Amino acid sequence: MSGEPEFRGGWRERFSALRNVPAVLRFVWESGPTVVVLGLVSRVIAALLPPALFWVSKLIIDTIFHILTTHQPIQPRLWWLVAVEFGLAVAAGALGRVIDYLDALLAGKYTHHVSVRVMEHAASLDLMAYEDPAFYDRLERARVQATDRLYMIQAIGRLIQQVITTITLSISIMVFSPWLLLLLVVGVIPAFVGETHFAFLGYAKNFRQTPIRRQLDYLRILGGSKEAAKELKLFGLKDFLTGRFKGLSTQVYEEDIALARRKVVAGGFLTAIGTAGYYTAYVFAVWRTVTGVFSFGTLTLLANAIREASSNLQQTFSTLSTIADQALFLTDLIAFFEMRPTIQSKPNALLAPRPIRRGFEFRNVSFRYPGSSRLILNGLNFHLHPGERIALIGENGEGKTTIVKLLTRLYDPVEGQVLLDGVDLREYNLEDLYREIGVIFQDFMRYEMTARENIAVGKIEQIDNLPLVEQSAQKSMAEDVVAKLPSGYEQMLGRRFDGGVDLSGGEWQKIALARAYLRDAQVLILDEPTSALDARSEYEVFQRFAELTTGKMALFISHRFSTVRMADRIVVLENGRIAEEGNHDALTNLGGRYAEMFELQAASYR
Ligand SMILES: Nc1ncnc2c1ncn2[C@@H]1O[C@H](COP(=O)(O)OP(=O)(O)OP(=O)(O)O)[C@@H](O)[C@H]1O
Ligand SMILES: [Mg+2]
Repeated sequence: MSGEPEFRGGWRERFSALRNVPAVLRFVWESGPTVVVLGLVSRVIAALLPPALFWVSKLIIDTIFHILTTHQPIQPRLWWLVAVEFGLAVAAGALGRVIDYLDALLAGKYTHHVSVRVMEHAASLDLMAYEDPAFYDRLERARVQATDRLYMIQAIGRLIQQVITTITLSISIMVFSPWLLLLLVVGVIPAFVGETHFAFLGYAKNFRQTPIRRQLDYLRILGGSKEAAKELKLFGLKDFLTGRFKGLSTQVYEEDIALARRKVVAGGFLTAIGTAGYYTAYVFAVWRTVTGVFSFGTLTLLANAIREASSNLQQTFSTLSTIADQALFLTDLIAFFEMRPTIQSKPNALLAPRPIRRGFEFRNVSFRYPGSSRLILNGLNFHLHPGERIALIGENGEGKTTIVKLLTRLYDPVEGQVLLDGVDLREYNLEDLYREIGVIFQDFMRYEMTARENIAVGKIEQIDNLPLVEQSAQKSMAEDVVAKLPSGYEQMLGRRFDGGVDLSGGEWQKIALARAYLRDAQVLILDEPTSALDARSEYEVFQRFAELTTGKMALFISHRFSTVRMADRIVVLENGRIAEEGNHDALTNLGGRYAEMFELQAASYR
């Protein structure tokens, strides 16, 4: 199974995965240093308790034997020993609880810490990363690993405890006979080999299954989503989706079971070998006692120590292979954290100009999306001057939204430059640049949060500034939308949460537009923000837009010529370049592409 094309590997990989352990230990440490220290101390003490118990038992039995053979009265020492054993047993029980508690505490802290880190890191990566399915697989695995690998931390704690116990017990055994120890070790090795082997197969299997699991997740979400519900019902897609889900999930299940079955058979056999080792050692100890070499106390000690050491040794190995296994799973989490965004601020990057004096310039810009060979923009040249309101038009898929993504530096051009005040965008500090841009995308987000929060995302520092939020809402005509909501600005929007109210497409657009006004940036970009507005709303929105953006730079994309004609300049995009530009009158007089498109739309109104 490990010979699958996606994942070849052997022992080297198994152990090289252990290099993930330090990184994880760092996360563990970061999530709660105090808990880590307390946990370690408890485990060291807990590790020493079993050997101490066995030793006291030996002393008790030897004392009893001495009393019996010498016919002496019972010595107080005997009761003292029993008291000590009782004390140790109580301590062992209590300590076990304490360790469980500390583990749970650490688990909570770790999950929290790593989940937050995953969120932070995912947010820091480029849009580019999100277009790569391999990235999703990795993100998915990292997400699972962030919460699912607690087991490994507990395993490390257990390992420390087991190693100390095993060493201490081994020393006690060695004091009486080194051969016994050798026997034990040899008996346990096969179990270890088996454990690691299966751990590895398990990882290879999960690795292979990730794309399927991603599909399953998607189907599950689709099946339960409000957005999809309308179409699922009317198109009668229930059986289709369920069938697909069943097929995939059966496949995953069967693979899981097949591996588990193999593991049961092999594991049982390997454990039997370990048990045989134990009994051979036991027979040896009995023989030495019968021949008078070991005392009864020693026999008891050895019997206990051998049994414990053997099972501890076996557990140590299986814990070790658990750790190696878990560490292998962590490869993706570590790799995920090692991913670096390609769109980043340079060191000592420039601050965005305030005010912008010369505007934006696309100079010979070509662009293709990662993983595609088709040039969307091809040697594009175009200016956006301060104080200018430009309408960008073009047919579907011509690259209008792509221009917005380049202008806002969500992507870098493949060739050419995007300049702001004559300086390449790549020279500016990203966060500072973003602060000067307000953009509402075609596929703007509908946050399942309150109306106030939905607007405040435009400038999140102002989340508690209700008057400012109201002011922006008034500018975008979202005011009337909010007025109709039962709880006004505190109304939960969307249907996901209790008491949520959904809005119509146009109402959502008005809310989103308010974000742009709240942002109060030097550059305002609206990518078809009014497509769902009724004719009167759109007219009003753009009247206000014109007033509110005087002196600012504005770029808007629209398919409605009633809107487009309000622009200072209209830019027509075709075949990756600017085909025509000018104001409405100039372009209609030109009788080119614009005039044709305008005529087409006007004709349908006559
Ligand atoms: N993330 C992406 N990865 C690959 N190709 C993409 C991506 N986004 C868009 N494209 C492609 O780039 C081309 C331009 O897309 P873009 O979204 O810029 O068009 P548009 O002019 O905004 O169209 P519309 O009027 O439909 O909004 C399209 O042909 C599309 O297939
Ligand atoms: Mg678009």
